[in-house]
Amino acid sequence: MENISLHLDKVYSFVPSENIVAYKEAAEKQNIALRDKSGKGNDFLGWVDLPSSISESLLEEVEKVSLKLQSKHLEVFVVIGIGGSYLGSKAVIDALSDSFAQIKGSFEAPLVVFAGQNISEDYLFELRDLLDNKEWACAIISKSGTTTEPALAFRLLKQDLEDKYGVEEARKRIIAITDESRGALKTLANEEGYKTFVIPDDVGGRYSVLTPVGLIAIAIAGFNVRELVNGAKSMELACGADVPFEENIAAQYAAARNALYKSGKKVEIMVNYNPKLHFFAEWWKQLYGESEGKELKGIFPASVDFSSDLHSMGQYIQEGERILFETVLSVENVNNEVLVPEDKADLDKLNFLAGKRVDYVNKMAELGTSIAHVDGGVPNIRISIPKLNEYYLGQLIYFFEIACGISGYILDVNPFDQPGVEAYKKNMFALLEKPGFEKETAEIKARL
Ligand code: PA5
Repeated sequence: MENISLHLDKVYSFVPSENIVAYKEAAEKQNIALRDKSGKGNDFLGWVDLPSSISESLLEEVEKVSLKLQSKHLEVFVVIGIGGSYLGSKAVIDALSDSFAQIKGSFEAPLVVFAGQNISEDYLFELRDLLDNKEWACAIISKSGTTTEPALAFRLLKQDLEDKYGVEEARKRIIAITDESRGALKTLANEEGYKTFVIPDDVGGRYSVLTPVGLIAIAIAGFNVRELVNGAKSMELACGADVPFEENIAAQYAAARNALYKSGKKVEIMVNYNPKLHFFAEWWKQLYGESEGKELKGIFPASVDFSSDLHSMGQYIQEGERILFETVLSVENVNNEVLVPEDKADLDKLNFLAGKRVDYVNKMAELGTSIAHVDGGVPNIRISIPKLNEYYLGQLIYFFEIACGISGYILDVNPFDQPGVEAYKKNMFALLEKPGFEKETAEIKARL
């Protein structure tokens, strides 16, 4: 099997390779710190050796539970969670699914949909309306067990399941994925006797896709979690602390983005040329945004879907403020073949492409765009992915996770906490007049 690869050649005209290599020692040191747990946030480093330490019994259990649920002829499986509790599975499922799976349906696996990732009343109304006529089950995923958005969605959907199937059968259609011993969800799961999976104590939400948080939904959607884990395992080896900087793509990526940041490039845009990767970028934005954006520091992670967004954000990227760099997810081989047909009238003047693959046109758009953006002052990092499948997605996930840890340590922040997320919660609870927030309620009301 090949590996994903990193290409920095379109960065060097902005930041010479010496400036990137200048981070070699720091990147190697920080990679070791992640392994020997000597850096900041070291009680949240369980994900570092997660791929190689996943037990056979856990994988078997994940497969068993997904088969058991599938045997109920489910049409829909609802994953209830927010942030790290849903973005990883959404990213993998979207990347591997038929773009029109929602309309075509599938006889093999249920459609996986998401809830508790927003507080939209319309979204919940429409979801419940859909579920009313479907065979369905759900997973509630929350490490803390107290997050408002998923708790609210679960409260509604649990009642719907009980109304539809009765309390006993509803219990068999709910999986709880949460902390081993703490939190309201754990208490509820124990009381109700839900099938429960544990999120390890030392794995934070955004690093948890290779735990049951991601694996259950991905397996239920019909994808091969063993291959995902195998891909991640291969990257664990390829980006190990014993792998020298010159061969270690995670260390190089961490070094390059820190060198670019130092040179004034404050925004990193993840680019894809395949809409299936839209949510992979959403997962990546959470990973890097929550890990690095603190202490008034950090690259702002953004994303675009090309070529769609070349007709919207393309203008800014080409000619706006020169604070951007791009990281392109470039898929080498697509899974299907579509040729451009000959057209007698040729009114659109596209006959010069007749017989060519659509992917060839896409690749030329990618190459042409990267050259234009580099000419316009936007450095371009390219990550080449041989093919979109479970194995290479596993590689990508681990690559970005370990690079994020190294990069955050180089930036000298704790990449494993998210203290800034609490600020909105405090205000929301104060405005909602939650018991215990009386002082905050009075304070915030005085400001309105
Ligand atoms: O990365 C993180 O830790 C967060 O984004 C969490 O995943 C998110 O806030 C959801 O938290 P919980 O799983 O506790 O409901």
